[in-house]
Amino acid sequence: MSNLLWGGRFTESTDAFVQEFTASVQFDQRMAQQDIEGSRAHASMLGRAGVLSAGDVADIQRGLDEIATEIAEGRFEWSIALEDVHMNIEAALTRKIGDAGKRLHTGRSRNDQVATDIRLYVRSGIDDIVQQLNRLRHGMLDLAERHTDVIMPGFTHLQTAQPVTFGHHVMAWYEMICRDGERLLECRRRLNRSPLGAAALAGTSYPIDREDTCRALGFEKVIENSLDAVSDRDFAIEFCADAAICMTHLSRISEELVLWSSAQFDFIQLPDRFCTGSSIMPQKKNPDVPELVRGKSGRVVGHLVSLLTLMKSQPLTYNKDNQEDKEPLFDTMDTLFNCLRAFADMIPAIEPKSDVMLEAARRGFSTATDLADYLVRKGLAFRDSHEVVGKAVAEGVERGLDLSEFTLAELQQFSDRIESDVFDVLTLEGSVASRDHIGGTAPQQVAAAVVRARAALETD
Ligand code: ARG
Repeated sequence: MSNLLWGGRFTESTDAFVQEFTASVQFDQRMAQQDIEGSRAHASMLGRAGVLSAGDVADIQRGLDEIATEIAEGRFEWSIALEDVHMNIEAALTRKIGDAGKRLHTGRSRNDQVATDIRLYVRSGIDDIVQQLNRLRHGMLDLAERHTDVIMPGFTHLQTAQPVTFGHHVMAWYEMICRDGERLLECRRRLNRSPLGAAALAGTSYPIDREDTCRALGFEKVIENSLDAVSDRDFAIEFCADAAICMTHLSRISEELVLWSSAQFDFIQLPDRFCTGSSIMPQKKNPDVPELVRGKSGRVVGHLVSLLTLMKSQPLTYNKDNQEDKEPLFDTMDTLFNCLRAFADMIPAIEPKSDVMLEAARRGFSTATDLADYLVRKGLAFRDSHEVVGKAVAEGVERGLDLSEFTLAELQQFSDRIESDVFDVLTLEGSVASRDHIGGTAPQQVAAAVVRARAALETD
């Protein structure tokens, strides 16, 4: 069995360990359907070009159909001795249909074959991922829409800064995830090009029609340069970069969910089905899903670095190094898909505790900026009003009072410009309502943002 497809050149068979060491079939069999799809297109094109007889093409198509079914049903026997998915399938084809199987590889190399397979595989993977991502977008819009006027502290430096609405915070997540989707679709567009016909590296002397296979495989256009076509994996790197950015976003959201579901914040209720208990501490309800997603972001960033390092300094064209692209790439696809899926299920089920959030916003002097802006409107320079409010906050800290809990007379001790209308801006509701412009936190702006986003999502 060993060296079946290139045996002619060799006088001894491959070392048993080397055979295992160099094989990729354990992991590249995931691309079997794409490999068959590529072979179908190649064989049909060779038939139309007059390189293969109609009979051979028909036999090849029939054989590939059978193999596709065997693989789908788990009946196909993969052999390490045949190294990779490509040679396993080709050998099975030849076992089934005889010499016509040996003619399939005319005008082709595993180098353009594998470049084609990976592109097809990532293309369909992106489609599945974007589907989950869009489910998550829907979930975020639903959550934001239900809570456009729930007030919480907004943070900088994880210190209470200014009051915001929970819906506004969720819509910030939404924007991050939207850009991730855009990036993935741009990556899809750039990778959707056909390397087939580049053969080993220089093209082929057979009268092939690259446009024909390009069309058949749903690629947008052919890759212009044969050397580039077989050698670059920049599309895989780009996908992993996009995935790493998306996972970074998910890790940030996860971190907030972990913090917020702690007893110390107590801002949200995560449904039990996304949490687990402790085997020793009966009181525990651990936010496992966000914690795991946060953790998994690390491996995806690692895969990106793996692929960059794999490609760095590689001379043209194909090098066996490139076989190492698959495991990081596949794991990135799986991880991103699963994390988005879990998030799409979990996010719309989050219950904010509006009373706790409101109280937290009150305790943190989150309307101090509103008071400063108020004094500016009454004629004070901003730096002076900042100073005045700073003093009021210091006294509030000392007495355990929020600014809105001072009496008018007490407030007037800090500045005689303060009048009874000050309480309109010192309330949390007044504060958020006053940020009433596109992208601001006012409930009606958040509601409008949700409407705009939903319309955009429907047309995506
Ligand atoms: N298994 C190989 C890979 O994943 C297929 C291409 C092999 N080409 C070669 N010239 N050895 O990259």
